[in-house]
Amino acid sequence: MKYPKEYLDEIKTRLKVSTVVSKYVNLKKRGKEFVGLSPFKNEKTPSFTVNDEKGFYHCFSTSEHGNIFDFIMKTQNLKFGEAVKTLANLAGIRPYTFSKQDEERENNWQKYTLIYSTYINYYHEELLKNSDSKLAKDYLKERNLTAEIVKKFNIGYVKKNPNFYETLIKKFDDKILKECGLFYYDEKKNIYVERFRDRIIFPINSITGQPIAIGGRTIQKNSYLAKYINSPETQFFKKGNNLYNLDQARKFSNLSNEIFLVEGYMDVIGLNKSGIENCVANLGTALTDRQISILNQFFDEIVICFDSDESGYKAAVRAAENSIKELQTEKQISFLFLPDGEDPDSYVSKNGKNSFLNYFKENKITIHDFLFNHFKKQTTNSPSSLATLEKKLRGITNTIKDEFIKKYILDFFLGKIYELTPNLSKGKKFAIKHVASLSSTKKIINETKSITKVELQEYSLLYLIINNLIFFKENINLIDNIKLFTKENKIIFDAILSKLKTEQRPSIKDLEIDTQLIDKIIKFASIKHIFKNDQNRIIELVEEFVHGFKIHSLEARIEELESKFSKDMSETTFNEIKNLKEQKKKENIN
Ligand code: UTP
Ligand code: MN
Repeated sequence: MKYPKEYLDEIKTRLKVSTVVSKYVNLKKRGKEFVGLSPFKNEKTPSFTVNDEKGFYHCFSTSEHGNIFDFIMKTQNLKFGEAVKTLANLAGIRPYTFSKQDEERENNWQKYTLIYSTYINYYHEELLKNSDSKLAKDYLKERNLTAEIVKKFNIGYVKKNPNFYETLIKKFDDKILKECGLFYYDEKKNIYVERFRDRIIFPINSITGQPIAIGGRTIQKNSYLAKYINSPETQFFKKGNNLYNLDQARKFSNLSNEIFLVEGYMDVIGLNKSGIENCVANLGTALTDRQISILNQFFDEIVICFDSDESGYKAAVRAAENSIKELQTEKQISFLFLPDGEDPDSYVSKNGKNSFLNYFKENKITIHDFLFNHFKKQTTNSPSSLATLEKKLRGITNTIKDEFIKKYILDFFLGKIYELTPNLSKGKKFAIKHVASLSSTKKIINETKSITKVELQEYSLLYLIINNLIFFKENINLIDNIKLFTKENKIIFDAILSKLKTEQRPSIKDLEIDTQLIDKIIKFASIKHIFKNDQNRIIELVEEFVHGFKIHSLEARIEELESKFSKDMSETTFNEIKNLKEQKKKENIN
């Protein structure tokens, strides 16, 4: 779907950049421009400028740069289409409708959310009024759900013999009522039955806060009915894409690093009652990588805290296997296992907020520790069982999307396996020093946050060369033209290169490299499990590094030009940036 240029231009002309930006950033006028604190970075001195004449904003500390649409997409986490809608609204012009189908979908969405909000609000009011829902009231009391909480989560109770279809059919057509998931058709009796009758209902909202589905709990004890049921998937509700309470919890991303991901509605509500509001639940299905990546947009650490029973543990294993794919350098995924038989709701109701948070601090375990421990538990010391363990862990590692995380996780897993197999590991030690101490892997992951990607690649390249001096002497053309970026690595690299060219039989001693530097290389090289003599793998790795260096040099040049552009706003610079970005794209595809 493409918006016509005229439509976008109309929005742009009606809205100054400073008008849009100043809704989110405090701007001060300075000459022709406005300045303020960057919304992309935590900073004390303003490095964010807005130029209405040119129609751009530019952030000097992060090199973020763009027009009003970019600004809204990036700061509000919206897709282009949603940004256009937001800004059209702000500009006071009608939303753009595309084809007939788009128009219809938009129309249906409006009706759909209106049906849900009408339904939910009606039964919420009914519950508060206490007309004929004594049973429900008693249930709320028993579970200690105050009126305040009932209001906060817009909880309702659908009575035993409800008849809200009759009310809705006056306003909405039959087709959409049939499709929305609130009713099902009983052919024998020729009536529409309310799916959630005699249940406490919990509204599930879209990320922007519109109700799109419902979870319902029976209030009957020892019932043959399912304890919880959810709305079926509809055109607008896909379970794997949504999380309960995400619309509220995401507002806490400025205040807290972590988000608690729990199993149930009542866990979210229980935690909220105790003042822990950064929590969401995953709607009674297996956790998807999509849900993880949504949470990653807002929070640095995802803490998965399921019920401490067998099914909760199994769900945690599945969640770990699924979510490790999404692990990123700046992000963490941890697990928290509560004392036996507890779920977050029961734990926090008994022990309170501080106890829960302390328990969290002391007992959380990283996703890789958890996975290792889990699969290790199923392992005996027999060779075949150890082989299965290694295979399984390598398989899991291979699903990780981020290449660097992948290497460190593999390092961690293999290191742990070597601890189990002391004889095997003897043979795998490297010339300079053994594999970095394994317990420190975690620390390294943290330290590497401050090291750039290109530096990591440099360390790895140096490590590879130092461990395969003879090979590289014989194949000097592989590395002869490489240029490194970091000063000290460059010096080492050049020194090694010249030794390789002059010495007959180069050895590490001849290199005369400062031991501190060697230590650093060993510590940060992420390729320690490449075994010597695997020449093809070595060549592959060198190619990978050369590729990485090329990308880096393009990126550095783009950044430089973007900063120049923010000052001169010249067409030539702009085109040059565009060119480089295209080159980078191509390079990434190769
Ligand atoms: P639990 O059985 O742990 O429920 O299921 P709970 O949250 O502790 O609820 P209470 O305290 O007994 O009321 C956790 C989640 O699994 C889904 C629901 O999303 C529920 O919140 N579930 C559970 C179902 O979808 N269907 C069920 O029959 C049971
Ligand atoms: Mn539970």
